[in-house]
Amino acid sequence: MERLTIKSYKARGTRITPAQSAARVELWTKYGIENDHAIDPQVIFPTASEIIVEIGYGMGEATATIAREFPQNGYFAIEVHQPGIGKLITILEEHTMTNVKLIDADAHEVLEDIFPNKSVDGVHLFFPDPWPKSRHHKRRIVNEGFLELISKKIKQGGYIHIATDWQPYAVWIQEVFEQSNLFSGGEVERPKWRPPTRFEKKGLSKDHEVSDFRYFLH
Ligand SMILES: C[S@@+](CC[C@H](N)C(=O)[O-])C[C@H]1O[C@@H](n2cnc3c(N)ncnc32)[C@H](O)[C@@H]1O
Repeated sequence: MERLTIKSYKARGTRITPAQSAARVELWTKYGIENDHAIDPQVIFPTASEIIVEIGYGMGEATATIAREFPQNGYFAIEVHQPGIGKLITILEEHTMTNVKLIDADAHEVLEDIFPNKSVDGVHLFFPDPWPKSRHHKRRIVNEGFLELISKKIKQGGYIHIATDWQPYAVWIQEVFEQSNLFSGGEVERPKWRPPTRFEKKGLSKDHEVSDFRYFLH
């Protein structure tokens, strides 16, 4: 895949609390993985039933809740937002969790460069940046190239679960998947295992409707 110059994220306020900052610095080697060498997820989580990658976990509360609910799985959580990285580390430390590893880089590069093909059982993409303006649609992470990338990394029969509170993006997601013959699936009821995220709560407070999608790799 070509290196993407168009980013699917925006530089957000990097106001980081002292606790998040300390966790980011002092505990990174315990919970983080560098993006400079290929990894074998099965070696990192040798007993994991499933290897799950979450892209863009924000502040990470939902990530940690899911990982606590499913301790048999191994989670790779990819995010570039420094306060969120610090926050998730503090939660992992507080609950002495060992089934989540963090990667601080663009998910496109991470998946392309360090994950072996056919190594991932599931991808979680909860409330990706909606990029509502037409001129920004090219920044939406769900696009043909993204589907190609994740289709290489997901095991046959594996899945991607996407949630959005932005209805035009929900329509866009369905169209992108329909135009691809790599996956099948569609809109599903919100699964009980998916806790509300921060971004979702903000959307709900503005009366946004939330849609969940689950697609399986052929
Ligand atoms: C709208 S927020 C949603 C955060 C969280 N999932 C939630 O629901 O509260 C989207 C997040 O995805 C992250 N993100 C977007 N594109 C990314 C990429 N290519 N690689 C890593 N993180 C990305 C952003 O930094 C941002 O924190």
